[in-house]
Amino acid sequence: MPATIVLGAQWGDEGKGKLVDQLASEADWVVRFQGGSNAGHTIVIGERKLAFHHLPSGITYSHCNLVLGAGMVIDPWKLEDELDRWFEFGGERPEGERLFISERAHVTLPYHRILDGADKEIGTTGRGIGPTYGDAIERVGIRFVDISNVLSDGGRIEQIVNRMNGRLSAAGLDSSITVDTLRADLEWISDRFGAAVRPTGLLVHHALERGENILLEGAQGALLDIAQGTYPFVTSSVTSRANATHGAGIHPGHVERTIGVVKAYTTRVGHGPFPAELHDEVGNHLGTVGHEFGTTTGRPRRCGWLDIVPLRHAMRINGFDEVVLTKLDVLGGLEKLEIVVGYRVDDAEIHEFPADLSMLERAEPVTLTLPGFESLDLGDWLKVAREAQATGRGYDVLPEAAQTYIQTVEQLLGVPVSSVGVGPDREASIERRA
Ligand code: IMP
Repeated sequence: MPATIVLGAQWGDEGKGKLVDQLASEADWVVRFQGGSNAGHTIVIGERKLAFHHLPSGITYSHCNLVLGAGMVIDPWKLEDELDRWFEFGGERPEGERLFISERAHVTLPYHRILDGADKEIGTTGRGIGPTYGDAIERVGIRFVDISNVLSDGGRIEQIVNRMNGRLSAAGLDSSITVDTLRADLEWISDRFGAAVRPTGLLVHHALERGENILLEGAQGALLDIAQGTYPFVTSSVTSRANATHGAGIHPGHVERTIGVVKAYTTRVGHGPFPAELHDEVGNHLGTVGHEFGTTTGRPRRCGWLDIVPLRHAMRINGFDEVVLTKLDVLGGLEKLEIVVGYRVDDAEIHEFPADLSMLERAEPVTLTLPGFESLDLGDWLKVAREAQATGRGYDVLPEAAQTYIQTVEQLLGVPVSSVGVGPDREASIERRA
């Protein structure tokens, strides 16, 4: 059985976790292939809310194997926190049993976090992501498989420490790293996680040969991609489909289905131009009703209407077979709905997403207007979703204006919306009628 990819189509926080959680019930393996502890998703189980950063959403299914892939940067201390919380909740220690760390993944150390903490330009999550990928690209990073070699080479540790301290002082930071702390950190990582470090690409390849189901879980979103996003206001990894298999250590021929997750409106955290952003009542509505605060940093997310211009770009890069439209319920209660379909830049109207950020900064959104639909509380939306399931009526159970909104998105993107989300509950999704 081939692989399925789930990707964010906007600036992250599209609600991928809920979809991965739904799909993971039928997956044998869930693989993260890029990013690190900058990602965040909250899993709601009964009364409990668990926030995860590294752990794939499939953790809640005990039959699911979990992989932190070669394309990731992993902060062992944050991972330990997550695993402790998982143990507290479920009494399980999955590491080495069903959670495997790629030997090729890079280690995020306190040094990387300190350096990232000095960022004022990009508005990063401060989790050391850029500096860890930076070291990987400069070919001076430490992969999980390298730890024992580094530990047995005193000269190399000293070299690493000197380099780190040089960088810290060049950045005007007081902190410094000592040989003893780096050694102690690496020894701890090796003791704590050594048993979980594996050739994960090979494990997933063998699973594919056995006909097992693989789910490749993207983090962040298309517009945060280092090459195709709103550079430099991006993350430091390739977030797109092309990297899903590469970062997992398998080849692209295994992929059968690529799903783009699109929030029914647009949000972004961190700095950078955002033409659809709203600083008015509607922006407040989206942020408040949608609970738009970052899972990793708690920062309020910037909110705006759904913007088709960057979505077209995301579609072209990723070739989504289908789109899952999340948080449609949040639009309920707005008198009219708008969708950004182009930008007016200087005297011209453009419909393709520009690489030049100064153009994006000058861009005035061109929108089309659709009728709004009423607001329901989450319990009522859940009832609507259950009715859709019980009767097989699909989107017909939705208010007419909500159906029009979905059809418009499909027409504008040229791809089917295979399901819509109407609340955080696992069951609060409505599938398109077959
Ligand atoms: P970094 O990934 O921490 O280096 O942050 C770079 C940019 O990506 C900043 O604008 C962050 O807010 C954004 N970012 C990183 N991870 C996420 C995410 O999971 N969701 C949304 N934005 C993110």
